[in-house]
Amino acid sequence: MARGAQFGPRRVAAEDVLGRRVEPHYIKVLLRLLGAHALAEKLTAEGYRRTAASVSDPDLRRIAEKNLAEERKHAALIYGLLAELGVSEQSADRASIVLRRAPSFQAPRYFAEHAQGELGLLMGSVSLDMTGLIMIGVNYRDSSYAPHARAAELILEEEADHDEFGASALRDAVERLGADAVGAALRQWLPWAVNFFGPPGSGFTFDCIRYGLKQKDNDELAGLFLSMLERRLNLIGLEMPRLSQTYPHTIL
Ligand SMILES: [Fe+2]
Ligand SMILES: [Fe+2]
Repeated sequence: MARGAQFGPRRVAAEDVLGRRVEPHYIKVLLRLLGAHALAEKLTAEGYRRTAASVSDPDLRRIAEKNLAEERKHAALIYGLLAELGVSEQSADRASIVLRRAPSFQAPRYFAEHAQGELGLLMGSVSLDMTGLIMIGVNYRDSSYAPHARAAELILEEEADHDEFGASALRDAVERLGADAVGAALRQWLPWAVNFFGPPGSGFTFDCIRYGLKQKDNDELAGLFLSMLERRLNLIGLEMPRLSQTYPHTIL
């Protein structure tokens, strides 16, 4: 439980929200967080659909299609939590319109709308599965909102599998496409991947931590991601691109 959090892990049930036994602001923050999570899963699924259709390697296509089915399931799970609270997918997405255009959503947006081929598939996995695994594993698994914590548990196992694919696909891509091509793709995607954690020290995240809906601030998770990725890149002889210090991060 995050220090000073008002609610410990899994302390709030759907009935507490429906019966208004938690303060209205908790509900507001919860709905916004679930809406963002649902949209991220949906755009990730869309990206896997795009890239599955554009890779020729049958093994890669099979994996992209498997991930597509699983991401669809994740999206349905989180939209289901919203539906349980009386929020339709359509109205959740309407509430996320500004977020969808934000720097924190550039990775899922680009994956869903433009990613192509093997490198697009690979970069989508690095930018969305590896980051998603950290967000869900660190922040949502211990959510004070019990249904979100339970959904996180279900999602986590498949995300670990997606991340394993991403790690091995990264090695294969260096062999097949060369370090230069993979390095260039990384320089394009890495800032988007880090920004996916969101801005540090925002009022919204402060509220999430206070209510036990998140455990750690975005920059802490982003730091964890960068150190894991650096280790992964160094193992296959790739250099970690250098990023600007402040959010939204850019390549230096
Ligand atoms: Fe997912
Ligand atoms: Fe995933």
